[in-house]
Amino acid sequence: MADPLRIALAGLGTVGAGVIRLIEANGELIARRAGRPVEIVAVSARDRTKDRGVDLSRFAWEDDMTAMASRADVDVVVELVGGSDGPALTLARNALGAGKSLVTANKAMIAHHGLALAELAEKAEVALKFEAAVAGGVPVIKGLREGASANAIERVYGILNGTCNYILSTMEATGRDFGDVLKEAQKLGYAEADPTFDIEGIDASHKLSILAAIAFGAKIDFPSVETEGISRLRAADIEQAAALGFVIRLIGIADTELGANGEDTLFQRVCPYLVPVDHPLARVNGPTNAVVVEGNFAGRLLFQGAGAGDGPTASAVVADIIDIARGDVGAPFSVPVNALAPMPRADAGHRVARDYLRFMVADRPGVLAEIATAMRDAGVSIESLIQKGRQEEGGEVMVSIVTHGGPEANVDRALELLKGSPSLTEPPLVLQLLDN
Ligand code: NAP
Ligand code: HSE
Repeated sequence: MADPLRIALAGLGTVGAGVIRLIEANGELIARRAGRPVEIVAVSARDRTKDRGVDLSRFAWEDDMTAMASRADVDVVVELVGGSDGPALTLARNALGAGKSLVTANKAMIAHHGLALAELAEKAEVALKFEAAVAGGVPVIKGLREGASANAIERVYGILNGTCNYILSTMEATGRDFGDVLKEAQKLGYAEADPTFDIEGIDASHKLSILAAIAFGAKIDFPSVETEGISRLRAADIEQAAALGFVIRLIGIADTELGANGEDTLFQRVCPYLVPVDHPLARVNGPTNAVVVEGNFAGRLLFQGAGAGDGPTASAVVADIIDIARGDVGAPFSVPVNALAPMPRADAGHRVARDYLRFMVADRPGVLAEIATAMRDAGVSIESLIQKGRQEEGGEVMVSIVTHGGPEANVDRALELLKGSPSLTEPPLVLQLLDN
């Protein structure tokens, strides 16, 4: 058998320890499939004394993880530290600069610096792989780069954050409180170091921007992702959605459309959507991720599985290592960086959508008329309107409206008309309905 592929592993947390356990458990079959053994030679983390439930005694320890990039006995650096910048980025740059392949699960770093890192990898003719960065154990990057590579991709969308999906589906099933379920997701190892990245949709936006670049051959453009998280949702929204035949899921959607001057533009959005109960994404519960890829010849492809956690994420990391052992050094974003198109952000205003609008309002005469007038004046057609009964005289009530399909700009205009109204006790919440 050929020489081992020698790995340096930076980061020994949930995913890093998972990678060690996986390579230990499946080493022989990995060697058969890769055509050579995969061997960890060096590891690094912050605290050398921490018990991680894995035996580190066989590996060299580096206090300074960036030193791994210059070790002569290392072929591949695996970065499982996290953070878009800081030590993870320094390590990534140094490793690629030193002609070592890099595997990472770090979507924040790829979303912010993926193009520059891919340029370094292409220049050094080494691999940069990040399957685990999107949808954990679900091989959706491989699906796009390999299985669906003959297709023009029309749309890519799905559930990209396990923490939010765990929170939303658990709240839906148990009626429990948001904060309580978030704590549980953190304990289970699903959440990012900074959980606001999960609940404010930033983590899903990182992932969507990576998928969009690969799907549409576009330069990655994370700042242009319209992002809204789940922290403003109330249990009453989930209940209301259920009464209307929907569940609420945090969904990322990307597609391309022609701009005003006939140029290709890129639409990228992450926000909570009302998903019809008979849609395949409505049945995705817990930390599961699911991504729908619509190809012009393959049709609708659904990639689904565990989006977070040690085992599934390690599975994706080690799959990338196996690819490298097999000699796969393809362009990280499918096409070389200089062939990726700089696609401007699409103007979403003319997109047609049905919306769920939730208003918290003062319970007094004329408030409904005020909302309905703003809708009428902005050209928004109301399909249904429900007001939840008052709790106390003059108290706050919830009014939820579902609109007929219409341009998004009209809803924006209606909300503009209502802005600053003393009848509204908090800014309205707008969620779109996902089409089937
Ligand atoms: P984690 O449990 O917090 O582990 C991070 C590791 O990095 C720890 O071992 C920590 O060392 C080490 N570290 C942090 N800062 C360091 C520094 N300045 N110098 C040296 N080592 C440092 O994180 P994780 O959940 O495994 O996530 C790792 C990466 O995978 C992140 O990019 C994350 O977004 C991504 N990811 C995670 C999941 C998941 O389910 N957890 C899924 C997909 C992708 P100590 O242990 O000594 O503190
Ligand atoms: N925090 C992420 C999630 C981990 O909840 O999906 C996987 O990327």
